[in-house]
Amino acid sequence: MDTITIRRPDDWHVHLRDGAVLKEVVPYTAQMFARAIVMPNLVPPVTTAAMASAYRERIRAAIPAGVRFAPLMTCYLSDDTGATDLVHGHRDGVFTAAKLYPAHATTNSHFGVTSVEKIYPVLEAMAEARIPLLIHGELTHQHVDIFDREKGFIDEVLLPLLARIPGLRIVLEHITTKEGADVVRAHADRMGATITPQHLLYNRNALFQGGLRPHMYCLPVLKRETHQLALREAATSGEKMFFLGTDSAPHLRHLKEAACGCAGVFSAPVAIQAYLRVFAEENALDRFEAFASLNGPAFYGLPVNEERVTYRKREPFSPTPVRIGNEGEIVSLFDGENVEWVAV
Ligand code: DOR
Ligand code: ZN
Repeated sequence: MDTITIRRPDDWHVHLRDGAVLKEVVPYTAQMFARAIVMPNLVPPVTTAAMASAYRERIRAAIPAGVRFAPLMTCYLSDDTGATDLVHGHRDGVFTAAKLYPAHATTNSHFGVTSVEKIYPVLEAMAEARIPLLIHGELTHQHVDIFDREKGFIDEVLLPLLARIPGLRIVLEHITTKEGADVVRAHADRMGATITPQHLLYNRNALFQGGLRPHMYCLPVLKRETHQLALREAATSGEKMFFLGTDSAPHLRHLKEAACGCAGVFSAPVAIQAYLRVFAEENALDRFEAFASLNGPAFYGLPVNEERVTYRKREPFSPTPVRIGNEGEIVSLFDGENVEWVAV
């Protein structure tokens, strides 16, 4: 199969940043996807409906002329989040969901939640108002092995939370383990999961391929091959709980190629190509539309996109780094490699 036509896909997890970076990266996501769930981990974080509304306007201003793209906003939960502004912001169409970053889990998460018990009242209000909770599912204790932090979070935090608030709908973001896929399947009536291209394409060997590879470093970190295979199985199964979320996370080159490099893979320019490679390798192109265009809207209770898009295989090409004015450049997934799919 050298061409595939599907409903226009959505990206259910993306970082668009702000300022000069935002202006350069938004067009990639806007051209490829109809909608995207935009992460709120800016500096300062997007914690109120007013901030989200202003941020949405800055994103809209960066959408190329003639491109239809809807940014869907999220609220950054902290220990101090109150339910009222969040519930009203959701009612007024500003917030689509709220994001739980355990404090210090990842980029700009220092204002995150120090203990989930502290925000149970907010989570109960979210369940009541049917606002989905999006979770970065990693324990943050330094003594926990970094490769075990997702599994530890599931056992210590997620399972008790699922039991405590039965009405809460939850997306476990960027799952990286078999345990992640399993817990989502076991709660299919109320849970979903996004899966990134890098966790489908690679395992932790890619971090050390011939030397240290900072552009392969993201959080949660790549895991061993058994987990990669479990994720490929989940994504290509067509099961309704699993949907596309790139977690495209741009950082300037010099901030990644550093003694203490930032976490994040910038995949926006080649995201669909990356997923298509996986689905083609797994002989599952017939299930790509479910993953990319149907399962996400079903979870969020949103209409599917009516527009169709066709991708075809072409002569391989290499993505080039994205220039950010005088600030530097951002290296994309597949930099120096070939990409074989293109939208027609
Ligand atoms: O690798 C990551 N980068 N993981 C995250 O959770 C955050 C993201 C970012 O914002 O850079
Ligand atoms: Zn993310």
